[in-house]
Amino acid sequence: MKPEIAIIGAGYVGVPLAQVFAEAGRRVVLVDVVQERVDQLNRGESYIEDVPSEALAKLVANGLSATTDYDIVRDTDAILIALPTPLSRQREPDLSIVLGAAREIAPRLRKGHLVVLESTTYPGTTREEILPILETSGLKIGEDFHLAFSPERVDPGRTDWTTKNVPKVAGGITPACTDRAADLYGSAIDTVHRVSTPEAAELTKLLENIFRSVNIALVNEMAILCDRMNIDIWEVVEAAATKPFGFMPFSPGPGLGGHCIPIDPFYLTWKAREFGFYTEFIELAGKVNEEMPYFCRSLVSQALNHAKEMSLKGSNVLVLGVAYKPGIGDMRESPALKLISLLQNAGADVSYHDPHVTSFTEHGLEMTSVAFEPAAYDCVVIVTDHSEIDYEQLVDDASLVVDLRNATGAKGTASDKVFKL
Ligand SMILES: NC(=O)c1ccc[n+]([C@@H]2O[C@H](COP(=O)([O-])OP(=O)(O)OC[C@H]3O[C@@H](n4cnc5c(N)ncnc54)[C@H](O)[C@@H]3O)[C@@H](O)[C@H]2O)c1
Repeated sequence: MKPEIAIIGAGYVGVPLAQVFAEAGRRVVLVDVVQERVDQLNRGESYIEDVPSEALAKLVANGLSATTDYDIVRDTDAILIALPTPLSRQREPDLSIVLGAAREIAPRLRKGHLVVLESTTYPGTTREEILPILETSGLKIGEDFHLAFSPERVDPGRTDWTTKNVPKVAGGITPACTDRAADLYGSAIDTVHRVSTPEAAELTKLLENIFRSVNIALVNEMAILCDRMNIDIWEVVEAAATKPFGFMPFSPGPGLGGHCIPIDPFYLTWKAREFGFYTEFIELAGKVNEEMPYFCRSLVSQALNHAKEMSLKGSNVLVLGVAYKPGIGDMRESPALKLISLLQNAGADVSYHDPHVTSFTEHGLEMTSVAFEPAAYDCVVIVTDHSEIDYEQLVDDASLVVDLRNATGAKGTASDKVFKL
């Protein structure tokens, strides 16, 4: 049976999306350039933690498939693009992957096709960049084919809010495009929220991520001030969160991580310049958040100094958790990478333990997770608060702990060998 829906990009977004459509009884094919990923998917083996292999294998048995061959899109009704949208080295939008895919799709486009871009990007991408490429097919938008933008809101590792039950925002180039996209998503996703244009949908996603980035920066700045004023920032955030309205708690930490929040706001900053507009909140938040690994290095240094009369140079430090957030093994943009480099540059001998990351090669670092033996180190720095760790036991076993996530909670507050952010 021919697939109805092609999803381009079998990553953190594409695979869960394929699962949701396949579980709704739709025939789905994933298209990816990495042969190894395609082979794994076709064997029913999942490399995405949110999609268990057991569930994937069942769907594969019922017709879900993967391929590296773009020709498959000819047979489908809908093509969803879920490809990376990184920043260039100059921190400008790099749409090369998405535009490359559009160029693959254009010669295969046929009457009746719906194309939806899901990748996070600046307002105008769908209309100004994707549409002209698809129009090289000679087909007419709104009549022969339809094009829309619908942002992905998946939060990897989360089980209460998933691709299926998080409302899906969709905006098409024409009203008919919006209708087609809304109908498609409505066939598998609980709620669809229509907006009038792709630009509104594109900016919706950026607003959501910028909201997080700015609020995290605010609480990070407060954390630095609290350190000087000797106030516990965690206690303050917890107390403020008891207000039933008008406040939403955000946690301080060693810096931003993941594919979205450290990157996406700068897509808007770049586009805003075209309109002579300077996005000051975004820039300031970026500046504060990027300072955090440096501040955290100074916390480790102070802790060693106060508790052990040691300097960072010559100390051996265990970084506990290197994934960018708990419960997953995703290392993208993880603040642990920057912090490890800073500690090493200061002369510390750094090891790491992470139950989700056995080894990694990133940012010039090549490391393997060591056994969890906190007593063997001068200092244990909690960078990612994975739930697999017994933090009470850690406080008992370690000689010194720097807790950047409030993982040690009340026990850490009561102990004179725990230094908290
Ligand atoms: N990961 C998240 O939590 C998340 C959440 C919301 C939005 N997004 C956005 O969704 C988009 C996709 O992100 P992701 O996290 O799924 O990326 P990813 O890196 O996990 O997956 C991308 C996949 O695309 C494949 N690929 C690369 N070039 C290709 C090409 N030319 N043709 C086909 N496949 C190709 C890669 O091999 C990879 O499997 C990005 O714009 C991201 O910002 C991600």
